[in-house]
This record gives sequence, structure tokens and C-alpha cells, in this order.
Amino acid sequence: MSAIGKSVARAEGEERVTGKGTFVADIKLPSMLYASVIRSPIAHGDIIEVDDSRASKIKGYKGIFTYRDILGENVIPVVFRDQPCFAEKRVNYYGEPIGVVVADSKSAADMALSRVNIDYRELEPLLDPLKARGNERIKIYGEDNIFKHLKVRNGDIEKAFAECEVVIEDIYTTPYQEHAYIETQGMVANPLPDGTMEIYGSMQCPFYVREAVAAVLDLPFSKVRVVQTSTGGAFGGKEDVPSLVACQAAIPAYHLKRPVKLIYSRDEDIISMSKRHPGWIRYKSGADSNGVLKAVEVEYIIDGGAYSTLSPVVLWRGTVHAVGPYRCENVKVDTYAVATNKVPCGAFRGFGSPQVLFAAESQMDRLAEKLNIDPAEFRLKNILRTNDTTPFGQKLSWSVGAEEALMRVLEKSDWKKRKDKNEYAPDGKKIGYGLSSVFYGVGLGAGGKHLARTGARVMVEGDGSVSFSVGTTEMGQGMRTVLAQIVAEELGLPYENIRMIPTDTSRVPDSGPTVASRATTMSGRALIDACGKPRNSILTEAARMLGVEKHQVILKDGMAFSRVDKDKQISVMEVINSCFAKRMPLSGEGWYVSPETSWDERRGFGDAYVTYAWSSNVAVIAVDMDTGEIEVLKIYSSHDVGKAINPSLVEGQIEGGVIQGLGYALTENIITDKKGRLMNTEFATYIIPTAADVPSVKPIIVEHPYPEGPYGARGFGEQPLMGVAPAVANAVRDAVGVRISNLPITPEKVWKALRKYED
Ligand code: MOS
Repeated sequence: MSAIGKSVARAEGEERVTGKGTFVADIKLPSMLYASVIRSPIAHGDIIEVDDSRASKIKGYKGIFTYRDILGENVIPVVFRDQPCFAEKRVNYYGEPIGVVVADSKSAADMALSRVNIDYRELEPLLDPLKARGNERIKIYGEDNIFKHLKVRNGDIEKAFAECEVVIEDIYTTPYQEHAYIETQGMVANPLPDGTMEIYGSMQCPFYVREAVAAVLDLPFSKVRVVQTSTGGAFGGKEDVPSLVACQAAIPAYHLKRPVKLIYSRDEDIISMSKRHPGWIRYKSGADSNGVLKAVEVEYIIDGGAYSTLSPVVLWRGTVHAVGPYRCENVKVDTYAVATNKVPCGAFRGFGSPQVLFAAESQMDRLAEKLNIDPAEFRLKNILRTNDTTPFGQKLSWSVGAEEALMRVLEKSDWKKRKDKNEYAPDGKKIGYGLSSVFYGVGLGAGGKHLARTGARVMVEGDGSVSFSVGTTEMGQGMRTVLAQIVAEELGLPYENIRMIPTDTSRVPDSGPTVASRATTMSGRALIDACGKPRNSILTEAARMLGVEKHQVILKDGMAFSRVDKDKQISVMEVINSCFAKRMPLSGEGWYVSPETSWDERRGFGDAYVTYAWSSNVAVIAVDMDTGEIEVLKIYSSHDVGKAINPSLVEGQIEGGVIQGLGYALTENIITDKKGRLMNTEFATYIIPTAADVPSVKPIIVEHPYPEGPYGARGFGEQPLMGVAPAVANAVRDAVGVRISNLPITPEKVWKALRKYED
């Protein structure tokens, strides 16, 4: 192959490095206005009046827009329809949007905002999901504050636990995680004279934005056009919430008939946008004397915040992934997404699985320790292999690289010899090794199968340059580059000839969201389909020019060869010129629908995802006995990606994910005060890893081709984050003998545990 498997430079690399890329904040349209969002000053209560009479005296003030100005339905449609665009009376979280003020500059809009007076009646907020679940007195959602309850039932759990040699039970907790994308949320709404609303902005899911804007403006989808601008990071944080931002700009733009720009400040972004759900996990698991994982019982609660948003599907993924990548015949999993008076939580790399996998993989180590066998050996005994059945009843008939991923990471880290290595420990600290194995269902699976479709268009020009459009988005993960490589391969043209047009809802059919590590796999297949027609023209014309049969033509590296006579060759460019002159079709439309999945919700059973990515991680750390500080020395991280279309981008995803996972493991947390306000809402106090914290990351690529994927590839972008926290927790135990079951693993927690203080 000529383009697949090559580490070509990423398509947007130069514009990123030189700062040339246009982000939404850079957009300026004639007569553009600026909006600022009016937000709830309380976590729970009723809004009595919003008064802008003092604001209206400000020069350049254009008005206030609230739920009264919504033309259609006051809703942000996600899975359910419980979240309003602007709160009407009841507010359910601190920072909930109530309306916007608009002015002819951002500073005037902010000044106006500071003069808006809100009269309210405060109610007691429910902030703790354990107290919110089934609360008799305070109801945020339905009768019991439960957005969704899911389960898995398999085998006979009581009998199995009775037969176990060892059983471990504990409670694990995990905190909020903020995406900390470098570019904050932002949108520009531009009303056109024909009544179309154009939206430009930073986002993952243009079709979600289109649906929301159409709902609040009461417009048909065909009259809303959404264009993604260069997006400076997302990680799940620009999945559903950009719909809110877009509506906040579109409503005033519609009424004022002028473009409106809305860019969030960092503080506002952290206060009001989605995060990873805090998790509470009671995990009980047991193994028999042969080291077979016999029984797993899990109760997993996620703190959904004030509205359901993506919680039902985040919960579903967490439910499916609760046991980890192992065989286990006796399983009882109960999961709950609970409503609280806090900011709605949503998608974040891993989507409900990192929380429960932290518990699952901590438990695996604890079982191995109690059985007195090596944690690697214990995992190898139980790990899923091809033709095994998962704990939720799915037979895996292809492409299970879990064992190889585990073996490779053990080999590379020299796991077996770790105890006799007498490794150099900086400043007399204690070295520890920790292992984790995880997996990730690629794509939307049965939980979102109605959205699992994708469209694509390819246009080959007479000069041999090519542009293509897809409905999925580039957010820094490398999709644009990888898809261009696929088009180059299909058409036999150099990668440099291929350009992706920014994702735009007016160019391709609704292609679902860009989430769930699905873009490469799904859009890749749709593009291969779209290349079919131009490819056929090129092959037909090349065959004629070479004087051979069409099936004898090979396209490679910009040349068309004859399979039978290697001396016969001609450049693809010449072939295209000739096709163009003969008016042969050189463009195509493609479509791809994911293979069937199924899920029986009553029992929690089925073919949840079409394929899974597999991963193992070894963390090597050093712990300071005096301070409890953890220094991460090395992370070995292996991933079965099916096929690496661009190995260097795969390595980049592994490095980035691992570092984000280290933040989750060690430092990231958001503190909520008694009134439900988030306390640390800027990067001075919300601590993410910096360059100084990055250890040596050793990416390992494993390739068990996924037969349905483009060239055998499957997505894996989320997985690198997922196994890091448990590997670090297991390494802490290995280093200094303490077990931390509440993330993040701060020096204070380690120090207290070393001295056996109660937290
Ligand atoms: Mo992703 S966390 O599925 O937006």
C-alpha cells in the first residue's frame, strides 16, 4: 500500500504550528453583535423576575433574550428532552442559563450582564448523588431522581461467591474531570436574508447543533446550516453542550437579524459545561483457587447533574464495561445515573468506563494478591480471547488482541524481572510497578445504533486534486489526516493531493455524532464507498490507456500499473486528465451503516458493540515516603487498533491519552461548596499535567485487523486514558503497600495512608 500505514504529516499541522487556523473567536462578520449569558446565581430555586432596566442604559445595548423569545420548543434535545435552552422558572444548577444580553461589543455585553438583576427564591439543593437517589423530600427528576437504571444479570452470583477461594469488596470513588480543551466553547450565528440560520463554531457534532437550533427557532433542518470551525480540543466536552452555546447565539441573531458571536470565558466554561461524571462504585469480586475470576457484583452510581443530557448512554457504556476485558460467568451489575443540583455531566474520553474500570482493575490486583499469584498471570488466566463470550453474553468471533496487548506490555516493561532489577529510585524514593488491562467498545453500539450511519462525498478535479467531505469532525484526534490517507489509497494519488472540506451539515447527510472513537472506522468506510465511482472511472480509463483488462490495473503511489506487465505504467494524473476530457464521472457519494448490534435491557445481555479495542498498561512510579508524592517514571501502553493507518498519529493518541489519564489519576478534581458552586474554575486551581509532569510514555501498537474496518482499522482514541489510573493505583500499592481507592491519588491521601490516618 502506498498511503496506508505511513506516518504522513498531519493535515492541519502547519496551520496549528503557525497559528494560521481560523478558530471561531477569529471570525468577524459585518455588523456583528456580542452576547453574554445570564446565569443562575443559585443551585436550586425559582426565578421570580429578571430585570434589565439598569442594563438597558448602557451604550450599544441591544436587548435581553430569555425563554419568552424562543420560537419553537424550549429544549436542548439529547437522549431525553428534559433540558431547557433557557430556564423558565425553576433553576437546577448554579450557572444554569436563564437568557442572554446582547450589545455591539463584548465589553458592553459584559457590562450589561453585571447590571441585570435576578430576583429568586432559593431552595435546598441536592448535591450528593447517594442522598439524591430516591430522595423523598426533594425531587429534581421524576419520582426518585434516577435518570436511568441499567443492569447485567448472568449466572448465579450467590452460588459463585460461595465457591470462591478469595473475595474482595470495597467502595471506590472518582471525581469530576474537566476536559480542559485549550479553546473554550464558542459560536457565531449568522442569519441569512432567506431565513436560513448559519452557525459557525467549535464542536464535535454539527448534526446535534442543527437539531437544537432548529428546535428553538422552529425551523426545518434544511434551513439551519452548521459549519465546524477549527476546533481546539474537545475530548467529549464538545459533544452535546455546543448545542446550548449555539442556541444562545442563534436566538438573539434571529430576532435582531444580525450576526451574534458568543465566546465563553474559561471560568464560565468550567462552571457551566459538561464534565466527566463523578462515580461511586461498590465492587465485589471473587476468584477460585485456580485463579479463575468466578463472580463480579457491581453497584455503580454516576452523578448526572441537573439534566439527563448524555447520562443514560454514558451509564450504558459503563454498564457494559464494568467487568473489564475478562471472562466471567456470574455477574450482577446495577448502575444508576442520578440527578443532583449540579452542572450536567456528559461525555469525556472513555464515556462512563474509566470510573468503573478503575474499580475493576484495582480489584483484579487485590484478588491476585490474596491468591498469591502474579497480577499479570491472574489477568492472563482470565483475559478474553477470540471465540470467548463476554460477561454480557457476546461471542467475540474476531479480532481480540487483548492477550497480545498484555504480553507485549509485559515484555517491553520487563515485568517479570521488575523485582530483581534494583532499579534506581530518585532521592531514595520507592519504586512500584502497576498493571491494568482495559477494553473499549468501538462506535455507538446498541446504545445508540439509530445514529450509527455516515455519509461522505469525494470530488476528483480535472487537475488531479481531490476534495472530500464527511459528517464527522476533526477535533485534534487526526481524523482529517487518516481519512485523506484512505482517499489517497483508494484513488492511487499522493496524500498531498487530498483535502478535507471543513465539516458542514449542508454538504453531507446526517452522519451521527463524532464520538465513541467512531470517526475513522465509520467515515473511512463511507469514503471508500464514495471513492467507488471515481475509482472505477480511473481504472477503466487506465486499462484502456495501458491496453489491459480493468482488473489487471493496480493504482499505487500516483501510478497506474499493469498487474501482468510491470513495465506498462502511466501516471494517475494523466489518467484523470483523460477521464475529465471524456466527461467520465469523477465524483461520488458514499454511505456506511454499522453492522447490527443488540441489547436486551431487562437482562443486560447482547452484542453490545461491533468490535472492541484492547489495551494494557504498565505504570512505573516512585513514591516519596516522607511526603506521599508520586513521580511517574514510565508508562508502557499497548493498544490493539486493528490496523494503524498512521502509526505516528496512533502514538500521539496514546501519549495524549496517557497524560490526560495521569491528570485523572493524580491531580484533577473539582471541589463543590455547600451551595453547589464549583470552587476551582480556572487553570491556576484545576491542576492538569504540564510538560514538566510528562513521564516517558512507551506506546505499543498491536494490530489484529477488524474485518469491517477500513483496511482493518478500528477507532481507539478514548482508550489510552482509561487504563492509567488503575495502573498507577496498583503501582502505589506495589511501591509502598497502601491502596488508594479514591481518585485522585494526591500526596495527602498517600501520606495519610502511610501513617494510617483516617481521611
Ligand atoms: Mo466521546 S467521550 O464518546 O464524545
